[in-house]
Amino acid sequence: MLIAFFFDSSRFLIESIGAMLATVFAAITTFQKILFCKDDISFVRIVKVVRFKIRSTEIVVHFTHVCKETTIRLKGCGLEVKLLFLCTMDAIDYAKSYQPAGSPVQEVIDAELEDVGIRLLIKRDDLIHEHISGNKWRKLKYNLSEAVLHNHHTLLTFGGAYSNHIAATAFAASKAGLSSIGVIRGDEDLTNPTLKFAREHGMRLYFVSREDYRKKADDEFISKLETEFGRFFLVPEGGANGLGVKGCSEILTEVKEDFDVVCCAAGTGTTLAGLSVSLKENQQLLGFPALKGGEFIKDEVARLIVESRLKPPTTNRLQLVTDYHFGGYAKIEPELLDFICGFQERTGIRLDPIYTGKMVFGLYDLIGKQFFKIGTTVLIIHTGGLQGWNGLQHRGLL
Ligand SMILES: Cc1ncc(COP(=O)(O)O)c(C=O)c1O
Repeated sequence: MLIAFFFDSSRFLIESIGAMLATVFAAITTFQKILFCKDDISFVRIVKVVRFKIRSTEIVVHFTHVCKETTIRLKGCGLEVKLLFLCTMDAIDYAKSYQPAGSPVQEVIDAELEDVGIRLLIKRDDLIHEHISGNKWRKLKYNLSEAVLHNHHTLLTFGGAYSNHIAATAFAASKAGLSSIGVIRGDEDLTNPTLKFAREHGMRLYFVSREDYRKKADDEFISKLETEFGRFFLVPEGGANGLGVKGCSEILTEVKEDFDVVCCAAGTGTTLAGLSVSLKENQQLLGFPALKGGEFIKDEVARLIVESRLKPPTTNRLQLVTDYHFGGYAKIEPELLDFICGFQERTGIRLDPIYTGKMVFGLYDLIGKQFFKIGTTVLIIHTGGLQGWNGLQHRGLL
């Protein structure tokens, strides 16, 4: 008999899981393998608790075919697998929502680029998931698993009132069975769609003045938050930490096509850091800061790579293009909106107005100025952020 466990570990106290498994193991004498969901973070916790019980057992970590039934027959080998669902969460929902798969690469077919001699590809990370899309999933992935691994029940993070990161963290935390707290810059606004979404997904919102918000990395301020909320796992604003970089370093590993240049929007520089460490020798990275004065991002990228402990690139292949911020963060001009609409009409691809819209606008401008050699293949990273449109509408900016 094979035994498979599917559960959301955070819904259980680790002690009770251990006790439960100890009972199960005591009752079973003939099992050979224990199967867990693919990349199941619960696996690590269980191995820690019951290591002594399963030392002599062969463990298969990757079990990709999640099944609802309690008993299934493995095709081909005739083995019967008993599935014990130790949680209330449906395993298929869990796999879909908490472990989104990667994303496809597609060719951008745009009549406007005919005859310019540049091939455009786009990595559709916006398609990863409806709510944890783009670089949000990449940056949260290892933060979530680290939080669960260290027995945290609450995530705390920071963001502006329309932040993509706040919306995605609320959703991802709820799916991982964690509580979440969002420390929000500015005054409470119950009609704001991003904050409404975050609340609906269980995030507790804590509004602070702009002055206090600037202290978000200060030890004293963090201690005050701990006094207020108790123990939490802190995810910095925008998911900007070494774990975020690690997740972003996986983006290019999913790209099989050859390319010469990668273009990506930048805010904190975490995504650029992840891309930098996974570039090949002959590839170049163009980062388009979405905010004014984005030159600081270069130092941030270097700092974040060190924090990630990933192997830094041997040569610097990152170039920042700082001319396409349209006046600053979340500043929108009619010219930008026209471009985004035209791009969508011609290619069928929707960009967001805060990050990817500005980046692709800049890229097209550079192509028009013959910045790239003829024959260059450019890969655009679509980092998602489409919920940002709701925020602009709410502010009456559309
Ligand atoms: C849609 C979108 N694209 C790009 C970025 C910039 O990413 P990073 O902060 O990693 O530079 C963000 C912000 O996190 C974002 O929400």
